[in-house]
Amino acid sequence: MKKIVVLGSLNMDLVVRAPRHPQPGETVIGGEFQTFPGGKGANQAVAAARLGAEVWMIGRVGGDAFGEALLQTVRRDGVNTTFVRCDDQAATGVALITLDTTGQNAIVVAPGANMRLTVQDVQEAEAAFEGADLLLMQLESPLEAVEAALQIAHRRGAKVVLNPAPARPLPNALLTQVDYLVPNQSELRLLADGEVEIEAAAARLMAKGVRNLIVTLGEEGALLKTADFQEKLPAFPVPVVDTVAAGDAFAAAFCVALAEGKPLREAVVWGNAAGAIAVTRPGAQPSMPTREELEHFLKERQG
Ligand code: RIB
Repeated sequence: MKKIVVLGSLNMDLVVRAPRHPQPGETVIGGEFQTFPGGKGANQAVAAARLGAEVWMIGRVGGDAFGEALLQTVRRDGVNTTFVRCDDQAATGVALITLDTTGQNAIVVAPGANMRLTVQDVQEAEAAFEGADLLLMQLESPLEAVEAALQIAHRRGAKVVLNPAPARPLPNALLTQVDYLVPNQSELRLLADGEVEIEAAAARLMAKGVRNLIVTLGEEGALLKTADFQEKLPAFPVPVVDTVAAGDAFAAAFCVALAEGKPLREAVVWGNAAGAIAVTRPGAQPSMPTREELEHFLKERQG
């Protein structure tokens, strides 16, 4: 079993479906209100565990009912939470999510305890990196913590995958040290200084020194670009119910495949398959596929 460390957020997702996303100043009457366990970090941790990895998570929750509920959920999926601190001075992260009739989402995150993760927390979690194959991170945690974890992972010989979500400018030193960068289109654009054309933006990031780039393109699949080659791998067509956490499913499946030594191209296909399964189901963590589901899906679609 491969070992993956996930540094990242745990949020409670507060979700409402509406006929459309509200405009500024507008009130829209929505449907039923639902809560789901979420947070990019926890979603990816749960997905990686369901796909067969040993997963250790590093993060913070608040000392409240949401925090306790989120910890219980990730533990139920086998995620080791030894290094998820409970912070009595902060509220647990919350995501306010609206979904339109096509399943497209709009999200505002109140990060709470997630943004109080410190470099010291990461250093104290060094034991999590013992024998780890890979470190997976996103950007719902402080950048200093992300950078500290990257250094520990590389010192211990683990590969580093960064899903730079939500989008924010990043120092070149970080971009060039990450082994695999997995942005979506808007994150790619921001990191490529506003370049809107996908291949040109990807080329600009590679010119900045990014080692391996995997751009998730939603219904268009994913673009894989390394120093030696570039390939666009199509998405698997599915009926879309809820797009929340599709990128998290992709990142986790990509990492599990990579940690298991599968070729890069196959790891991207795994990502596409996990993302496709996730959008057919409601909720963030509830939509993450198991390994059995993913293998069955790939067999059906690829023969
Ligand atoms: O990527 C989806 C996640 O983003 C949601 O679960 C929400 O919590 C936000 O972090």
